[in-house]
This record gives sequence, structure tokens and C-alpha cells, in this order.
Amino acid sequence: MLGIIGGSGLTAFPELKDKQERVIQTPYGATSSAIIVGSLHDQTVAFLARHGNPHVIAPHSVNYQANIWALHSIGVTAIIAVNAVGGISKQQDTGVISLPHQLIDYTWGRRHSFSNTAGFPLLHIDFTHPYTETLRQTLLQLAYRDQLYVLDSAVYAVTQGPRLETAAEIHRLANEGCDIVGMTAMPEAALARELALDYACIALVVNKAAGLSDELITFNAMEKVMHDGMHQIKHLIAAYCKHLASR
Ligand code: HPA
Repeated sequence: MLGIIGGSGLTAFPELKDKQERVIQTPYGATSSAIIVGSLHDQTVAFLARHGNPHVIAPHSVNYQANIWALHSIGVTAIIAVNAVGGISKQQDTGVISLPHQLIDYTWGRRHSFSNTAGFPLLHIDFTHPYTETLRQTLLQLAYRDQLYVLDSAVYAVTQGPRLETAAEIHRLANEGCDIVGMTAMPEAALARELALDYACIALVVNKAAGLSDELITFNAMEKVMHDGMHQIKHLIAAYCKHLASR
């Protein structure tokens, strides 16, 4: 089953049909929201709102362990994660969608592994390539086919938040090779890998990162961009479901 984790701007997926709400108990506590299981182009899909619905849970307070464990426990084998981010590199302008191929984790203090919890052994996963390349490539091909403008790679800097960065922090991230910055890609991607789930991220730039534009970064301005971008992202997810159905 395909899992979709929606971030800021994607707290519900009304296009799903025959929806059922599943509240899953996990050894790690409660998930961010009930999981909505429904169908999209004849594919069963499990949707989870990362920040809750309504959007109230801060990035550092998301129970990533519970979310990933719960999706796995109901039979999810692949996850498409949707993340709103700030743009650092030139081509990552506001409104641009990309499929990151790498990340750098700057978060701290999050429960970031299943190792030595709830009966799990010590896990040293290979995380050389944090995103599942086959899933990423399939999404890219579908985006090209449908003439969606999607960048084929990006290095995602994952910051702790919930505050936005300083201009100097963004300067440093740029020097360290980061193209986009967000707060929620980790530990989600690593936990998914620990449970051997396929995992890819669709990132939407909702603002230029701190110090890169003269405008104040406000949630209102971000919301406008999210609205248009999510439309395209939902198109891509629907195309992926159609692709699964045609296999
Ligand atoms: N920084 C970090 N996270 C974000 C940003 C940003 O500029 N925009 C959206 N999520």
C-alpha cells in the first residue's frame, strides 16, 4: 500500500474515495492524526497529516516514530512525503517543486531511531542514498510525461525549527551544499529506511530562505504558494497511483 505523509499545506486529501479513519495504537504513542485510508485511481492509499489536522504540531514535536511505525503496521510499503521548504540555491525559487536526492540532518534531540526500542535490535542502516532511487525516478518520469516542472535533485537541509533560520545560518547551509531547507525530512526518512520502506520526498519551495530576499517571511505568503503547488503535487501523486494500477 502507498502511504502519503502530508506536510504544511497538505493536511487532508479530499480526493480519496471510500475513506476510512484508522486510529493506530503504537508502542511509541499516538500518531500525528488518524490515518485516512481510501482509494485513488483504484489504489489503496493511506494518508497521514504530519502536523495533525488541523495543523498544530511543531516539527520538533512530531512523533515520527509513531507515524512511520503505524503506516508500516497497516501494510504501507512505500511512502511519498510532501514537504514545504525554503529555497536556497538559485533554481529553487518560490513555487518550484523538486525531488530531493540527498539530505543533511541538522536536527537534534528528536527520537530518531527504532534501535533498542519495542523489541527492535540495534540497527545500522545504510543511508548513503536517503531516498529510494526507483521511486524517485518513477515520480520524475511521470512528472516529465505530464509536463510538470520538477527539479530532479536537491540537497535538503533539515533544521530543528520551529523558528526560521538566520541569514548567516542560510549562508552556511549554502556553503555546505544545501539547495533547500525544511524542518521535517528527518528523522522521518531514516525511520522509514529502518523499517525497509521505500521513501521519496516531494518538496515545494514556499519562500526564499532567510537573507535571500528583501521580503519578510510570513506564513500567509507561504500559504498562497502552497495552494497552487499542492495542486501540482496532487496531480503527480494521482499519476503515480494510475501508474501502479497499470502495472
Ligand atoms: N526554513 C525552514 N523550513 C521551512 C522554510 C524555511 O525557510 N520554509 C518552509 N519551511
